[in-house]
Amino acid sequence: MLGWLGLILGALVVIGALTSLWSRLGATRRAHAELRAERDGLAERAAALQAQVATLSQEQARRQALERQLDEAQKLEAVGQLAGGIAHDFNNLLTAILGNAELLRMRPDLEAIREELDEILRAGRRGAELVRQLLSFARRNPGQVVPIDLHQTIEDSVSLLRRATSQRIFVHVALDGESPIIEADPATLENALLNLGLNARDAMPDGGHLTFRTRQLDHLLDGATPAGAPADLPPGRWVHLSVEDTGTGMSDEVKAHVFEPFFTTKPLGKGTGLGLASVYGTVKTLGGRIHVDSTLGQGSTFHLWIPLTDKTPEIVDEPDPNDVVRRGGHILLVDDDDAVRQVGRKLLTELGCTVSTAVDGLEALDFYQEHRREIDLVVLDMQMPNLDGQGTFRELRRMNPAVRVLLVSGMAGREEAERCLSDGALDVLSKPFRIEDLSRAIARYGRLQRSPPHITT
Ligand SMILES: Nc1ncnc2c1ncn2[C@@H]1O[C@H](COP(=O)(O)OP(=O)(O)OP(=O)(O)O)[C@@H](O)[C@H]1O
Ligand SMILES: [Mg+2]
Repeated sequence: MLGWLGLILGALVVIGALTSLWSRLGATRRAHAELRAERDGLAERAAALQAQVATLSQEQARRQALERQLDEAQKLEAVGQLAGGIAHDFNNLLTAILGNAELLRMRPDLEAIREELDEILRAGRRGAELVRQLLSFARRNPGQVVPIDLHQTIEDSVSLLRRATSQRIFVHVALDGESPIIEADPATLENALLNLGLNARDAMPDGGHLTFRTRQLDHLLDGATPAGAPADLPPGRWVHLSVEDTGTGMSDEVKAHVFEPFFTTKPLGKGTGLGLASVYGTVKTLGGRIHVDSTLGQGSTFHLWIPLTDKTPEIVDEPDPNDVVRRGGHILLVDDDDAVRQVGRKLLTELGCTVSTAVDGLEALDFYQEHRREIDLVVLDMQMPNLDGQGTFRELRRMNPAVRVLLVSGMAGREEAERCLSDGALDVLSKPFRIEDLSRAIARYGRLQRSPPHITT
């Protein structure tokens, strides 16, 4: 009996133990399942975190790139301001040097020193060209901004480049679609394309391929930025121009400085380092973007993004430059710089004009008030103390809405000059002007008809 009882008790103990084992096993299994679920959850969270880290580091890299661009842009901006200030003074000096040399060159009794005078003129014009490049870098070269066909400018530049490059350099043109119309000063734009082309030529001493390629795109508000475009390209209609060469390419060090004025890797006397600085300024003036892709040994591609316009180009009749005007007329020349005034007076006299001068806007207004019936044309400097060109122009127009004014500018903001142009000024002449420039401007605008006197009631 006891034996049975023991057996039953033993069995109960075993069953109890088994049950508890079973339930512990169940608990362990559940714990395992929970752990597994947690592990899966953790893995998922880790993956999500990893993705977030990747996005963050991409974002950081993008931000750093933008900051670098901003630093670069700010540095270039500061250098530009400095350059613009110096260029203003140089332009006045060069106007005096070149103008006087041109006057001397016209004198038959000075035949014996003609060669020396030509040397002065050559050096002076080279100086003027450098100042022009500095000014386009500083974006203070007003130029004459008009709607033009970019493809036409590319074709014109390429035909010049073909003449300036060796036969071992093949120049290709791949133009997309109908004429892309942009708003630019034709001469400045052509200069920019030539600078890019000549740099490519210099990077291919043993020959190679140079390709100008365009792509027109509608970059709409809701559309993604087109492939390869700068991240900050505003929505709108753009043309992408790439200038690609198979030359030496550039190191990262060179790439970081290419757009800085006076940065050059060329030997002394071969390059001034102003080419790309002026291209940079020109593209910025157009409201565009520029960047370079290049690997050492694998060529370079400059990418330009330029906004398109809906305006249509005008066809302009160029006056015959040989038509040197000597038909007289009374000109009021307004400039605060003594040397510029003197040489201007002599050049205009040489063109057969009667010349009166004024040292600033206030004096010009006084003079005009007294003599407006005699004055055929006012030649007006934009940058003057007291009353600047724009203010003087406005007052002159108030006295006589039909007043004929030719603006002269070394560095005035394009906007000021353009505002005067849209308010009826005839044209802008850039300093330093040459006798041909003056003559051409007068041939064009100074068919010296007397301005009808304005009758005030
Ligand atoms: N297509 C190119 N391939 C390789 N290097 C280039 C290219 N374009 C420019 N560079 C480099 O950038 C530098 C600056 O160019 P930039 O046109 O501003 O001045 P430059 O050609 O040296 O002188 P210049 O004032 O006569 O143009 C060059 O000296 C050259 O090192
Ligand atoms: Mg160059």
